[in-house]
Amino acid sequence: MGVTDVSAIRYSLIEMSQQEELVDAGKRLLLNNYRQAPIVMTRGEGCTLWDVSGRRFLDMTAGVAVCVLGHGDLGLADAIGTQARRLVHASNLYYLENQLLLAEALARRAFKGRAFFCNSGTEANEAALKLARRYQIVARAQPARTELVAFENSFHGRTMGALAVTGQPKYRAGFGPLVEPVKFLPFGDSSVLRIAITEKTCAVIVEPIQAEGGIVLPPPGYLQELRRLCTETGTVLIFDEVQTGVGRTGTFYAFENEGVVPDVVTLAKGLGGGVPIGAMLANEEVARGFEPGSHASTFGGNPLAAAAALYVQHTLDTKGLLEHCRDVGSYLGSSLLRLAERRKPLTRGARGRGLLQGLVLEGEAAPVVARAAARGLLVSVAGGNVVRVAPPLIASKAQIEEAVQILDAALGDA
Ligand SMILES: Cc1ncc(COP(=O)(O)O)c(C=O)c1O
Repeated sequence: MGVTDVSAIRYSLIEMSQQEELVDAGKRLLLNNYRQAPIVMTRGEGCTLWDVSGRRFLDMTAGVAVCVLGHGDLGLADAIGTQARRLVHASNLYYLENQLLLAEALARRAFKGRAFFCNSGTEANEAALKLARRYQIVARAQPARTELVAFENSFHGRTMGALAVTGQPKYRAGFGPLVEPVKFLPFGDSSVLRIAITEKTCAVIVEPIQAEGGIVLPPPGYLQELRRLCTETGTVLIFDEVQTGVGRTGTFYAFENEGVVPDVVTLAKGLGGGVPIGAMLANEEVARGFEPGSHASTFGGNPLAAAAALYVQHTLDTKGLLEHCRDVGSYLGSSLLRLAERRKPLTRGARGRGLLQGLVLEGEAAPVVARAAARGLLVSVAGGNVVRVAPPLIASKAQIEEAVQILDAALGDA
């Protein structure tokens, strides 16, 4: 085996064991924190994944809304390879060319502001919460202004701060005490906003569409009302676009569809097309909250990750992927609605935007997801009773049609 030949390591593992044995090894070697399907993935191309036994899957998960360009994109591979030969890492002790180009590319989208780069969605949200606190406490000299407002059924990540604003008890249980004070509001109910958001509120954090919570869209005008109240009270408005951003809903940010702009926006998942990178962008006013030393990340926005993200930015535009997402997304949405109609009473309906869609079931989604995988289709669970369909943004209508047919069959297996 040559020193650079990692595939030789992989093949020796396959010789050693069948897929079931690898799954057993996973159960022995890894922390027991995931509910993993007994499948070992090894290769991908476009919307297709293969497991180590050579079985083919149609991938409508995109690695949980990450692989916007699909798998095995040769341009992305070249961008990463070229950059790896040039410079992988140098640290934020210095300015980094690719990071600056990426910040500039992002500033051409619908949010204008300054960028902080990190490695995941959780970290981007953690940075946003810290920035909001320090903005109120230090930059605006309002030390009592610490309360965070978040929403029931939300998901913002797993660190102590991001978890503290995640409004789902199942994720929080056993980890307290978490960061306080946090007030949770029912998502979509305008009537409680005015009482909850006051001159004492530090920040509001919200997903423009609740993704992990089950692809829940806010009622029309709701995010505008939030924006209005935050402006009126001097509260920092943070949009968590970790899952909805980077074109997933057919516009670069989901908020573009709502006629509002937040003070801070967070991105990750699709940003590097599968290479880990997150970003927290803040407008000039709120960006005053950080000074040198306030916050940092060793790897954040390193030359390799930023090269991947730059390639994604470029490709979204040159391949017209936002338009494609709107087109294929509306096809997916109407196909799922028809499927939901046909499969009543097993189903309640379908909802979503762009290529972030959910089939809402009467019962639990996990058994349907498992049966779909057995039939060669990868979808995932959101919010317990929702089958999430979030393919790469390059998915074709033919692939969507195939996915919906398999989903139909998986429902029929019940
Ligand atoms: C809206 C939202 N925020 C934050 C996160 C956490 O991101 P990560 O897993 O990259 O830390 C997720 C992950 O699913 C998410 O959907």
